[in-house]
Amino acid sequence: MKAVILVGGEGTRLRPLTVNLPKPMLPVVNRPFLEHVLAYLKDHGITDVILSMGYRSEVIEKHFGDGSDFGIRLRYVVEASPLGTAGGVKNVAQYVDGTFLVLNGDILTDLDLGAMIDFHRQNGAKATISLTPVEDPTAYGLVETDATGRVRRFIEKPRLEDVTTNFINAGTYVLEPEVLDLIPPATYYMFERGVFPELLSRRDPVYGFRSDCYWIDIGTPAKYLTVQRDILNGRVQHLSRRLAGGRGFRAGKGAAVDPSVTVIGPAILGDRVRIAAGARISGPVVIGDGCVIGPGTTIEEAILWSGVKIGARVKLSGSILGRDVVVDDDAIVTGGAVIADGCSIGSENRLDQAIRIWPGRSIPPRTITF
Ligand code: GTP
Repeated sequence: MKAVILVGGEGTRLRPLTVNLPKPMLPVVNRPFLEHVLAYLKDHGITDVILSMGYRSEVIEKHFGDGSDFGIRLRYVVEASPLGTAGGVKNVAQYVDGTFLVLNGDILTDLDLGAMIDFHRQNGAKATISLTPVEDPTAYGLVETDATGRVRRFIEKPRLEDVTTNFINAGTYVLEPEVLDLIPPATYYMFERGVFPELLSRRDPVYGFRSDCYWIDIGTPAKYLTVQRDILNGRVQHLSRRLAGGRGFRAGKGAAVDPSVTVIGPAILGDRVRIAAGARISGPVVIGDGCVIGPGTTIEEAILWSGVKIGARVKLSGSILGRDVVVDDDAIVTGGAVIADGCSIGSENRLDQAIRIWPGRSIPPRTITF
């Protein structure tokens, strides 16, 4: 069976991390996120994949090529302007035959695809939507099903008294090819607001496949941190297996960690990472290839992309640092800061809010100190 992955979005909520990289290429435990999605598909025997692309598609194509290095046959279709989720699938229709899968390219899940495909076939469905439970149903579009799983209606952000289910669309679909006939060509069109309501109004069989397995979309900085915490804590089964247990402390090739460094796992260090005397790493922490951490520095729950240089006695927590960021001595970076590629934070600055700094900016020493 073929799979279409939607990777054309601009990832605006993750800016400025998505200024230079499209969302599927953001590193997650030091590998581009899309590598994890492709490995997951391969685990389920899906090796024929079509990427529906738009924003910064060239970065994805350059990394994955024809997919053979990843054991997948990859094809690319790039849209000239955003076509939305359904428009993006219509745009790749020439590569689709038979029943096929559609995946949002920003979701990490342990969903059992084989069981979902069986469920789709047993029900003779035209479309099957994966469903995941949420704690606060009033914040989402809900999918109400009957006892057999057949979708009865979609409810957009209901009031508490109108809540009849806590299951939302989890962004993985099994579709029959006829569904493509409902999508207008070269037009912005969405599954959620266009295709699925249309199928229901035609009384076509649409089913919801409920699962409470691990599920997250990496669409915001907070969730981008959460997904890596969850992987490091062993909560994502297919990835934890691949990371040989997931927990504890792992260092890449050529890493040099001074014996006086305290590491409280889980933490992953990339290749050639250097950590100086007296530093303290308190997981979950991911440090990219070639990063240098100065003496006496404390890093707690943070993601550092490759080439980051941190000076002495820096305090870093709850934050994300892009490629080649420099943080000088005695700076404090806490509280959800997102600092994009190539920024430099001068010594003794204190960034303790969810500040977002665009690529290449430079903050002189002692500028932000309140
Ligand atoms: P935000 O701007 O932060 O909302 O992110 P996004 O642009 O990625 O949108 P969203 O999170 O709603 O997208 C869900 C999935 O659909 C992601 O994998 C996107 O890459 C993909 N996607 C969204 N819009 C389009 C589009 O117009 N074309 C294609 N091909 N994919 C899209």
